[in-house]
Amino acid sequence: MLEAPPRERLPRHVGIIMDGNGRWARARGLPREDGHDRGADSVRTVVRAARKVGIEALTLFAFSSQNWDRPPEEVFHLMELLRRYLVQERAEILDNGIRLVTVGEAERLPPLVRDPLGELMAASAHNRDMILCLALSYGGREMLTKAVREMCRAVAAGRLDPESVEVATVETYLESARLLPPLDLLIRTSGEHRISNFFLWETAYAELYFTDKQWPEFDRDDLMAALADFARRERRFGMTGDQVRTQATTGDVAGGSAPSDLD
Ligand code: FPP
Repeated sequence: MLEAPPRERLPRHVGIIMDGNGRWARARGLPREDGHDRGADSVRTVVRAARKVGIEALTLFAFSSQNWDRPPEEVFHLMELLRRYLVQERAEILDNGIRLVTVGEAERLPPLVRDPLGELMAASAHNRDMILCLALSYGGREMLTKAVREMCRAVAAGRLDPESVEVATVETYLESARLLPPLDLLIRTSGEHRISNFFLWETAYAELYFTDKQWPEFDRDDLMAALADFARRERRFGMTGDQVRTQATTGDVAGGSAPSDLD
């Protein structure tokens, strides 16, 4: 069993694109839906492991804005599966101090998901040990478009001065920034190297980690391997490596006006 890195080297916020359920099932001669069912088992395992090692926030890309275009039977199966997950995991979420939140267009979800989701979000609202965020009917472009629309409305109503708009202003219009710490690590399973309209704004300085494992096979040790990989990386946020190392030991930025590395 792989060990977790020391707490100070852990990401605060991990996002996961849980890909490969369909291929996992097809490779075994099973219907795609069986892949999703096994994927829900991986969700349980990973939530439990993340909570245990002390991850502050975990966001799971469970259903994209574009997933509505899948065959209706598959969409219905995923909705039923989400409902079952919310009902079956209720006690574990509450007993472990986990706060459930969502990002995305939750209003598009059918009542069979919206109702248990709303209930568990309310029941867990005071929990502080980990945030579990389900990205549901979520699209990065859709969220940015929504933020722009709301900002345009605010400008038109005289509540927002366009000249005052900074990065931090935009973030006040993004529910991810309001609810979650900055994204540190993005994991994608199944060997694909894409963001697929997940956290577009939020990935600006996230570390990306790709694994060939299909999501139904992803287990605790795979999460630990991703966390260990993250712990070995140097994040520079546009500064030089020397600056970052000085900052880590003294808290100061060395040579503030020095030209920076590109990343
Ligand atoms: C992508 O695999 C996965 C999804 C679209 C759904 C993710 C859902 C789950 C993991 C289970 C339910 C979630 C929770 C939170 C209980 P894919 O179907 O695109 O796989 P493929 O690329 O191999 O076809």
